[in-house]
Amino acid sequence: MKKSLLLSAALLTALALSSCGSGEKTAPSTGVDNETIRTIMNRKSVRAFTDQAIPAEYMEAMLKAAMAAPTGSNIQPWHFVVLTDKTQYEKVFENNFNMRIFNSAAAVVVFCGDTTVTRPPRDNPDGAPVTRPSGTWRDDLGACTENFLLAAESLGLGAVWTAAYPYSERYASMKRELGMPDNILPYCAVAVGYPANDEQPKDKWKPERIHFDKW
Ligand SMILES: Cc1cc2nc3c(=O)[nH]c(=O)nc-3n(C[C@H](O)[C@H](O)[C@H](O)COP(=O)(O)O)c2cc1C
Repeated sequence: MKKSLLLSAALLTALALSSCGSGEKTAPSTGVDNETIRTIMNRKSVRAFTDQAIPAEYMEAMLKAAMAAPTGSNIQPWHFVVLTDKTQYEKVFENNFNMRIFNSAAAVVVFCGDTTVTRPPRDNPDGAPVTRPSGTWRDDLGACTENFLLAAESLGLGAVWTAAYPYSERYASMKRELGMPDNILPYCAVAVGYPANDEQPKDKWKPERIHFDKW
Protein backbone atom coordinates (compact mmCIF):
# COMPACT_ATOMS: atom_id res chain seq x y z
CA MET A 1 0.00 0.00 0.00
CA LYS A 2 2.67 2.48 1.06
CA LYS A 3 4.91 1.37 -1.79
CA SER A 4 2.11 1.86 -4.30
CA LEU A 5 1.48 5.34 -2.92
CA LEU A 6 5.12 6.19 -3.42
CA LEU A 7 5.06 4.80 -6.95
CA SER A 8 2.00 6.86 -7.87
CA ALA A 9 3.69 9.97 -6.45
CA ALA A 10 6.79 9.21 -8.52
CA LEU A 11 4.63 8.69 -11.62
CA LEU A 12 2.85 11.99 -11.06
CA THR A 13 6.23 13.69 -10.62
CA ALA A 14 7.44 12.25 -13.93
CA LEU A 15 4.23 13.29 -15.69
CA ALA A 16 4.41 16.81 -14.26
CA LEU A 17 8.04 17.19 -15.33
CA SER A 18 7.49 15.79 -18.82
CA SER A 19 4.51 18.09 -19.42
CA CYS A 20 6.48 21.26 -18.73
CA GLY A 21 7.75 23.18 -21.71
CA SER A 22 11.29 24.55 -21.69
CA GLY A 23 11.68 27.72 -19.64
CA GLU A 24 8.45 27.15 -17.72
CA LYS A 25 8.69 27.44 -13.95
CA THR A 26 7.91 24.13 -12.35
CA ALA A 27 8.51 23.16 -8.75
CA PRO A 28 9.30 19.50 -8.10
CA SER A 29 5.88 17.90 -7.74
CA THR A 30 4.75 16.00 -4.68
CA GLY A 31 1.77 14.55 -6.50
CA VAL A 32 -0.46 16.55 -4.17
CA ASP A 33 -0.90 20.23 -4.76
CA ASN A 34 -1.85 23.10 -2.49
CA GLU A 35 -0.46 26.56 -1.81
CA THR A 36 1.65 25.52 1.17
CA ILE A 37 3.21 22.56 -0.60
CA ARG A 38 3.87 24.69 -3.70
CA THR A 39 5.67 27.28 -1.55
CA ILE A 40 7.79 24.60 0.12
CA MET A 41 8.67 22.95 -3.19
CA ASN A 42 9.41 26.29 -4.88
CA ARG A 43 11.80 27.57 -2.20
CA LYS A 44 15.36 27.84 -3.37
CA SER A 45 18.46 29.68 -2.23
CA VAL A 46 18.70 33.08 -3.93
CA ARG A 47 22.09 34.81 -3.85
CA ALA A 48 21.64 37.82 -6.17
CA PHE A 49 19.04 40.53 -5.74
CA THR A 50 17.65 43.67 -7.38
CA ASP A 51 17.86 47.08 -5.66
CA GLN A 52 14.17 47.02 -4.74
CA ALA A 53 13.51 47.53 -1.02
CA ILE A 54 11.41 45.08 0.98
CA PRO A 55 8.07 46.56 2.14
CA ALA A 56 8.06 46.92 5.94
CA GLU A 57 4.92 44.81 6.24
CA TYR A 58 6.64 41.98 4.34
CA MET A 59 9.59 42.02 6.73
CA GLU A 60 7.18 41.95 9.66
CA ALA A 61 5.21 39.09 8.09
CA MET A 62 8.40 37.05 7.58
CA LEU A 63 9.48 37.66 11.17
CA LYS A 64 6.02 36.70 12.44
CA ALA A 65 6.23 33.48 10.42
CA ALA A 66 9.70 32.88 11.89
CA MET A 67 8.41 33.33 15.44
CA ALA A 68 5.53 30.93 14.77
CA ALA A 69 7.99 28.01 14.57
CA PRO A 70 7.85 25.15 17.07
CA THR A 71 10.42 25.11 19.89
CA GLY A 72 11.41 22.63 22.59
CA SER A 73 9.16 23.30 25.62
CA ASN A 74 7.95 26.40 23.74
CA ILE A 75 10.99 28.39 24.91
CA GLN A 76 11.20 30.59 21.77
CA PRO A 77 14.89 31.36 22.33
CA TRP A 78 15.28 33.79 19.43
CA HIS A 79 16.17 37.38 18.70
CA PHE A 80 16.63 39.00 15.29
CA VAL A 81 18.85 41.83 14.10
CA VAL A 82 17.59 43.31 10.82
CA LEU A 83 20.37 45.02 8.86
CA THR A 84 19.94 47.32 5.87
CA ASP A 85 22.88 49.71 6.31
CA LYS A 86 25.56 48.22 4.07
CA THR A 87 28.24 50.56 5.46
CA GLN A 88 28.40 48.39 8.59
CA TYR A 89 28.76 45.05 6.72
CA GLU A 90 32.55 45.14 6.34
CA LYS A 91 32.92 44.96 10.12
CA VAL A 92 29.86 42.85 10.97
CA PHE A 93 30.69 40.18 8.38
CA GLU A 94 34.48 40.32 8.70
CA ASN A 95 36.18 37.85 6.33
CA ASN A 96 32.81 36.24 5.55
CA PHE A 97 32.85 34.67 2.10
CA ASN A 98 29.15 35.51 1.71
CA MET A 99 29.84 39.26 1.64
CA ARG A 100 28.99 39.57 -2.08
CA ILE A 101 25.54 38.10 -1.33
CA PHE A 102 24.96 40.38 1.66
CA ASN A 103 25.93 43.46 -0.36
CA SER A 104 23.43 42.56 -3.05
CA ALA A 105 20.53 41.95 -0.64
CA ALA A 106 17.96 44.55 0.45
CA ALA A 107 18.31 43.23 4.00
CA VAL A 108 20.32 40.74 6.02
CA VAL A 109 18.65 39.30 9.10
CA VAL A 110 20.90 37.87 11.78
CA PHE A 111 19.04 35.12 13.62
CA CYS A 112 20.28 34.91 17.21
CA GLY A 113 19.84 32.27 19.91
CA ASP A 114 19.58 32.89 23.62
CA THR A 115 21.62 29.99 24.95
CA THR A 116 20.57 30.53 28.57
CA VAL A 117 16.81 30.65 28.20
CA THR A 118 15.12 28.31 30.64
CA ARG A 119 11.75 26.62 31.00
CA PRO A 120 9.41 25.96 33.92
CA PRO A 121 9.60 22.44 35.37
CA ARG A 122 7.25 20.08 33.56
CA ASP A 123 5.41 18.99 36.73
CA ASN A 124 4.96 22.57 37.96
CA PRO A 125 4.47 25.09 35.15
CA ASP A 126 4.22 28.00 37.64
CA GLY A 127 7.32 26.96 39.54
CA ALA A 128 10.87 28.27 39.37
CA PRO A 129 12.41 27.89 35.91
CA VAL A 130 14.76 25.01 35.33
CA THR A 131 18.13 26.71 35.47
CA ARG A 132 19.99 24.97 32.74
CA PRO A 133 20.61 26.12 29.19
CA SER A 134 18.22 24.90 26.57
CA GLY A 135 19.46 21.82 24.75
CA THR A 136 17.35 22.64 21.73
CA TRP A 137 18.13 26.28 20.91
CA ARG A 138 19.84 25.38 17.63
CA ASP A 139 16.97 23.14 16.53
CA ASP A 140 14.53 25.91 17.45
CA LEU A 141 16.47 28.48 15.43
CA GLY A 142 16.62 26.09 12.46
CA ALA A 143 12.83 25.70 12.39
CA CYS A 144 12.46 29.46 12.74
CA THR A 145 14.89 30.13 9.88
CA GLU A 146 13.06 27.77 7.52
CA ASN A 147 9.74 29.44 8.35
CA PHE A 148 11.28 32.80 7.40
CA LEU A 149 12.59 31.40 4.09
CA LEU A 150 9.20 29.93 3.24
CA ALA A 151 7.43 33.19 4.03
CA ALA A 152 9.92 35.01 1.77
CA GLU A 153 9.21 32.57 -1.07
CA SER A 154 5.47 33.00 -0.63
CA LEU A 155 5.84 36.80 -0.91
CA GLY A 156 7.81 36.65 -4.17
CA LEU A 157 11.08 37.39 -2.38
CA GLY A 158 14.26 35.34 -2.49
CA ALA A 159 16.54 34.48 0.41
CA VAL A 160 19.51 32.40 1.40
CA TRP A 161 20.46 30.96 4.77
CA THR A 162 24.14 31.42 5.58
CA ALA A 163 25.68 29.71 8.57
CA ALA A 164 27.08 31.56 11.58
CA TYR A 165 27.19 29.35 14.72
CA PRO A 166 29.18 27.11 15.30
CA TYR A 167 31.82 28.84 13.15
CA SER A 168 33.41 31.40 15.48
CA GLU A 169 35.36 32.89 12.57
CA ARG A 170 31.95 33.91 11.18
CA TYR A 171 29.88 34.71 14.25
CA ALA A 172 32.46 36.50 16.43
CA SER A 173 32.39 39.70 14.36
CA MET A 174 28.57 39.66 14.21
CA LYS A 175 28.36 39.30 17.98
CA ARG A 176 30.97 41.98 18.63
CA GLU A 177 29.87 44.59 16.09
CA LEU A 178 26.15 44.24 16.81
CA GLY A 179 26.75 44.52 20.56
CA MET A 180 25.15 41.25 21.62
CA PRO A 181 25.12 40.26 25.31
CA ASP A 182 27.23 37.24 26.39
CA ASN A 183 24.31 34.79 26.36
CA ILE A 184 23.31 35.57 22.77
CA LEU A 185 24.89 33.79 19.80
CA PRO A 186 24.40 34.58 16.10
CA TYR A 187 22.97 31.38 14.62
CA CYS A 188 22.78 32.36 10.95
CA ALA A 189 22.47 35.36 8.64
CA VAL A 190 19.72 35.34 6.03
CA ALA A 191 20.12 37.60 3.00
CA VAL A 192 16.73 38.56 1.55
CA GLY A 193 15.43 40.69 -1.31
CA TYR A 194 13.82 40.53 -4.74
CA PRO A 195 15.58 37.93 -6.90
CA ALA A 196 17.74 39.33 -9.72
CA ASN A 197 17.70 36.04 -11.65
CA ASP A 198 15.36 33.16 -12.26
CA GLU A 199 16.70 30.51 -9.89
CA GLN A 200 14.81 27.24 -9.92
CA PRO A 201 14.21 24.87 -7.01
CA LYS A 202 16.20 21.64 -6.95
CA ASP A 203 14.49 18.28 -7.06
CA LYS A 204 15.73 16.43 -3.97
CA TRP A 205 13.18 13.61 -3.88
CA LYS A 206 14.91 10.31 -3.07
CA PRO A 207 12.33 7.63 -2.29
CA GLU A 208 15.14 5.20 -1.43
CA ARG A 209 15.81 7.30 1.71
CA ILE A 210 12.46 6.30 3.18
CA HIS A 211 12.22 3.15 5.29
CA PHE A 212 8.89 1.70 6.28
CA ASP A 213 8.48 -0.15 9.57
CA LYS A 214 12.20 -1.12 9.66
CA TRP A 215 15.43 0.04 7.96
C1 LIG B 1 22.95 25.36 7.85
C2 LIG B 1 23.07 25.97 6.46
C3 LIG B 1 24.14 26.78 6.18
C4 LIG B 1 24.26 27.37 4.92
N1 LIG B 1 25.31 28.23 4.68
C5 LIG B 1 25.41 28.83 3.46
C6 LIG B 1 26.41 29.80 3.22
O1 LIG B 1 27.22 30.13 4.09
N2 LIG B 1 26.46 30.38 2.00
C7 LIG B 1 25.56 30.06 1.00
O2 LIG B 1 25.67 30.63 -0.10
N3 LIG B 1 24.58 29.14 1.21
C8 LIG B 1 24.48 28.53 2.41
N4 LIG B 1 23.45 27.64 2.64
C9 LIG B 1 22.48 27.32 1.58
C10 LIG B 1 22.76 25.94 0.97
O3 LIG B 1 23.94 25.99 0.19
C11 LIG B 1 21.55 25.50 0.13
O4 LIG B 1 20.41 25.41 0.96
C12 LIG B 1 21.77 24.15 -0.52
O5 LIG B 1 22.78 24.24 -1.49
C13 LIG B 1 20.50 23.62 -1.18
O6 LIG B 1 20.01 24.54 -2.15
P1 LIG B 1 18.56 25.18 -2.04
O7 LIG B 1 18.49 25.99 -0.80
O8 LIG B 1 18.44 26.03 -3.29
O9 LIG B 1 17.57 24.06 -2.02
C14 LIG B 1 23.31 27.08 3.90
C15 LIG B 1 22.21 26.27 4.22
C16 LIG B 1 22.08 25.74 5.50
C17 LIG B 1 20.84 24.91 5.83
